[in-house]
Amino acid sequence: MPTDTVRLVSVGMWTPARVMTNAELEGMVDTTDEWIVERTGIRERRIADDDVGVVEMGYRAAQDALERARLEPSAVDAIIVSTATPDRLLPATACDIEARLATGGAVAFDVWGACSGWLYALNIARGLIASGQIETALCIASEKMSAITDWTDRATCVLFADAAGAAVVQRAEEDGRGILASYMRSDGALAELLHRRPIGSSSVPVDVAELAVRDGHLRMAGREVFKNAVRSMCEAVDAVLEQAGVAKDEIDILVPHQANIRIIEATAKYAGLPMERVWVNVDRYGNTSSATIPVALYEAREAGRIQDGSLVLMVTFGAGLTWAGTLLRW
Ligand code: UT7
Repeated sequence: MPTDTVRLVSVGMWTPARVMTNAELEGMVDTTDEWIVERTGIRERRIADDDVGVVEMGYRAAQDALERARLEPSAVDAIIVSTATPDRLLPATACDIEARLATGGAVAFDVWGACSGWLYALNIARGLIASGQIETALCIASEKMSAITDWTDRATCVLFADAAGAAVVQRAEEDGRGILASYMRSDGALAELLHRRPIGSSSVPVDVAELAVRDGHLRMAGREVFKNAVRSMCEAVDAVLEQAGVAKDEIDILVPHQANIRIIEATAKYAGLPMERVWVNVDRYGNTSSATIPVALYEAREAGRIQDGSLVLMVTFGAGLTWAGTLLRW
């Protein structure tokens, strides 16, 4: 079947009810609300209960997306999950979500792209659809960053949080709408800037002594990541606009990865967009890794800021280092 176009049919999301404010963090580490707001733009974030994992979160976001698309799980051909915080390392989180949805055999696999993972998933779905292998994909990001956060490390614990988002992606007739351009890159030489010690992996098998050390938490060289983030997101802006032959001033809305308001502002400035044309929710959710973009997309759509025909630019970066961009006409 010829490829017409690949479209996001719907977006769903799920966030925990529990809100953690900056004031609460002031009681946990040596920090202040003022520092966090000024340096990051974050005011509060959502933290999942201990018994709620990424399968549950991703499943709820996926259900929301399917309901909005008015599709049954049996219509899904592929489930692609981005997570940096799987409930378990084997099998893939996508398989556990497949079991919950009961699609009747959709291929299900995970993408390890850290914060870039959801745009990677979207691009993989685009490729599978374009090559005629599938018709409908569920691209899910589900992240429980609170589970890998060192709650004694003020440099990271004020930043990360939990959320899930999902989109139904489908083949559609070409009418100028759909995904127009995709860009993906990585630089493994910068992996140590944002990483976890490999506890429970093949190189450091789990044993009781290792677990007692409790040092499998996320570690980050924030300032270096910051510099690379701005550079790589700007590169992604240029790459997708060039691919699609679109000028910066044609963009209706920028939906960037929500890591830090200063990174978002720098990217918007580079893209020549006033902040009124940028969706920002880092103040309410913090950095939820690859879930930030689908959650932001959902909110922007619900708020009427993304209309049918809107030109939407999404850019992201994360551990790896990885970075990516997607341009679509809704
Ligand atoms: O999704 C990708 C994941 N990563 C990121 O997006 C992170 C990118 N990086 C950043 O967002 C910023 O670099 C941070 C928010 C992490 C840090 O902001 P910064 O302006 O780069 O601060 P800094 O690391 O240069 O630290 C400045 C000072 C330091 O103190 P000294 O050495 O100047 O005395 C830190 O120890 O701020 C201190 N500091 C804090 N102070 C109060 C670091 N964290 C905190 C804190 N509260 N939570």
